[in-house]
Amino acid sequence: MGKIGIAVIGISGVGRSHLQAAKDTPGFELRAVCDVNAQAAEACGKELGVAAYTDHKAMFKADPQIKAVSIATPHWFHPPIAIDAAKAGVHVLSEKPIAVTVSDADRMIAAHKKAKTTLAVVYQQRFRPALAKARELVASGALGRVNRTLLVAADYRTNAYYASAGWRATWKGEGGGVLLNQAPHDLDLFQWICGAMPREIYAKTETKMHPIEVEDCANALLWYANGAIGYLYASTCEIPRDQRIEIAGDKGKLILEGDKLRFARLKEDLRHFTATTDKKWSQPEAAWEEVALGEPGVQGHTRVFHDFHRALDTNSPPAVTGEDARNSLELANAMILSSRTGKPVKLPVNRGAYDALMKKLIATSIGRGQTTAKSKPKPKPKAKPKKKSKAKRK
Ligand SMILES: NC(=O)c1ccc[n+]([C@@H]2O[C@H](COP(=O)([O-])OP(=O)(O)OC[C@H]3O[C@@H](n4cnc5c(N)ncnc54)[C@H](O)[C@@H]3O)[C@@H](O)[C@H]2O)c1
Repeated sequence: MGKIGIAVIGISGVGRSHLQAAKDTPGFELRAVCDVNAQAAEACGKELGVAAYTDHKAMFKADPQIKAVSIATPHWFHPPIAIDAAKAGVHVLSEKPIAVTVSDADRMIAAHKKAKTTLAVVYQQRFRPALAKARELVASGALGRVNRTLLVAADYRTNAYYASAGWRATWKGEGGGVLLNQAPHDLDLFQWICGAMPREIYAKTETKMHPIEVEDCANALLWYANGAIGYLYASTCEIPRDQRIEIAGDKGKLILEGDKLRFARLKEDLRHFTATTDKKWSQPEAAWEEVALGEPGVQGHTRVFHDFHRALDTNSPPAVTGEDARNSLELANAMILSSRTGKPVKLPVNRGAYDALMKKLIATSIGRGQTTAKSKPKPKPKAKPKKKSKAKRK
């Protein structure tokens, strides 16, 4: 196959990384850029010597050599653009999260299935050696039956960050907070490494530190089909930042902290030992090992673009398919639904219930600068002018 014509849609923020990654992937030929901001699109097209468009459908029509697009717009636009692309026979690499609602993700997946086009999603952290190794350990059965999982996704954002674009941290513009923007990578890695999704989630989402209407903190309990329990914390209210995943099983336990992976191998199966030992105070021996990791190689968006090209070139699935990417969104939607209803939520999330909730949240969206967060200082009440005494008025 010769070079594959590609265009980038949404070019100001992370779209810049897409443009660089497309340039750094020899099998792609960047043919166009597209952004609703006409000035930005024009300037970018001029800078790179490619065509510039403000409407993706017009772009598909104008240049049939565009066989693939990457989407780097705010989340709500991922589904309509990806579906239009499928209808035009164009392959898609969408930014995370795949969509805001699982029902929209379903529609994207169905559209690409019908068109027999590829739908890939940007989850570049999947290529970090520590993460890939952790998944390999679980998948190999080295941990045995899993009993407990943990995800800590401690991140941080300032108020200035949230104010940097009108769509951020509003139900209308973003459709969620930390669960839809900062934590999707962690949620994706967590379910990918575990190799299983919980069947039920009970969560509380809160707005703790920022003047925003969506959540900046989420806590959840997760129950898996095999009886295992999970704990999940995600926030943009904590420093130092921390990405921690723990998985404990009958044969071993792994702890992933950033790019450091430790594994404790039990000398005997925990469940078997528990049932068969006749010693009152005893436990299976466990030895911690630092897990050796391979070279990282090319990372970030460039790695994702290399993989997207490989998938198109070999007509095989990308590293992260639409179905894979829907899992982290399933977790996020389940947590928001559980918190809003005050009840545990079964997975897969009830699409109708989530769509109805989102409609309600959007209708009550008060937008940028308005908040119910405790952190927003309340304006001091104006001092009431003192009433003159009757005597003085006389
Ligand atoms: N993979 C990552 O690590 C990573 C990092 C940052 C952002 N993201 C994701 O990328 C997306 C964009 O985030 P950002 O921070 O770059 O946003 P941004 O606001 O900085 O940029 C978005 C761009 O999209 C354009 N745009 C908006 N609607 C459009 C439409 N319908 N058609 C064409 N262009 C449109 C805007 O004009 C703007 O230029 C989000 O979904 C975010 O979650 C992913």
